[in-house]
Amino acid sequence: MRIVLGVGGGIAAYKVASLLRLFTEAGHNVTVIPTEASTRFVGTATWEALSGNPVSNSVFDDVHQVNHVRLGHEADLIVIAPATADLLAKAATGQAGDLLTNTLLMARGPVLFAPAMHTEMWQHAATRANVETLRSRGAAVLEPASGRLTGADSGPGRLPEPEAIFDAAMALVQGQSDFQLPLAGRTVTISAGGTREPLDPVRFLGNRSSGKQGVALAVAARNAGATVRLLAAHMDVPPPAGVEVVPLETALQLREAALAAAADSDVVIMSAAVADFRPAAVSDTKIKKRDDRDDPVITLVRNPDILHELVELRNSAAPRGRQQLIVGFAAETGDGDGDVLAHARAKLQRKGCDLLVVNHVGTDKVFGQDTNSVVILARSGSEPQEASGTKTEVSAAIISRISDELNSVSPRA
Ligand code: CTP
Repeated sequence: MRIVLGVGGGIAAYKVASLLRLFTEAGHNVTVIPTEASTRFVGTATWEALSGNPVSNSVFDDVHQVNHVRLGHEADLIVIAPATADLLAKAATGQAGDLLTNTLLMARGPVLFAPAMHTEMWQHAATRANVETLRSRGAAVLEPASGRLTGADSGPGRLPEPEAIFDAAMALVQGQSDFQLPLAGRTVTISAGGTREPLDPVRFLGNRSSGKQGVALAVAARNAGATVRLLAAHMDVPPPAGVEVVPLETALQLREAALAAAADSDVVIMSAAVADFRPAAVSDTKIKKRDDRDDPVITLVRNPDILHELVELRNSAAPRGRQQLIVGFAAETGDGDGDVLAHARAKLQRKGCDLLVVNHVGTDKVFGQDTNSVVILARSGSEPQEASGTKTEVSAAIISRISDELNSVSPRA
């Protein structure tokens, strides 16, 4: 496929190098047209090297080839990333001051805009009107992701991740002109890792959760277009790019962070392994072994059940509040009282969450491994759904199920 990749003058231009790679690695022939302003962020040499094609931003280069006509006509797809407020305005009003805007006016195939700008600019009435105009003419304009922006500000305006733009572009050429990423405009909070409950300044009670599943879920939700907040208890793996990370240690800290985050979340996924108990007392100083005293006895007290509290909070706010989907995880072993699924069904009832992702655990299973096999149980009583494979594949299946549930309950405006 011949793709024209138009690069706007925003700091996110550097991320477009990864998008270009995704296109070329998938075998597409990409011509990059950077705006003059964008070359202050990424130089034309980068685009030439990565695309293997000459790069120009002037209608006066290679005039005999009438580049804007040729490129616009020949392109099977035009992708603009980052689509700045300025570029959206120029495209909406049909301006033709440079090679990129000329090419857009000559386009015959689908056009995808991936916006990136400060939140105020994205929300400004002028930009809203330009986006509406472009959409009404059949162009696809992605919702920007939310999160940390270039300055100290944060909010909607981040360039969607290169993988997300790539997926949207492929969907667009397959004729899904109304394609939006399934979780675009949604906020998803995910807890991950294992809590640590301190005994003294150097010791804690912990668990074997690696955080891999939670991180894979965060990546899948991000790639589905969601704004992702990762409540990160102890993890053996780094958090992914493009998500907001809230680092924390204990179950009580996780409770506070989860209840706060729930206020503006469309989905809350509790994949963290939360300690059910914590030491009743935390010593300010290191606990020493002493020959003149008995060995210490650790008394434990119960931690609050965060998942259950989230459900109660959601239910109490439901008549006036937003629809919210709450997803729990259950690590189960079968025993004399029942098999894994029987325990899981009972837990789903007890916790009251909408979906429960059930892992069958043994000491050699799940924790720290890269593969996983789960069953997704729904409170609605629909058939249990199995998913297995790498944690990435399992996460994609879970996020896809969540999108289906969410979009069937309250379609996005
Ligand atoms: N969870 C929670 N708060 C806790 C304990 C667990 O929110 N104090 C959440 C986990 O994040 C997970 C789900 O509850 O999504 C189930 O966790 P699990 O440890 O399997 O269940 P428990 O509540 O500990 O139930 P049980 O002890 O009966 O197995």
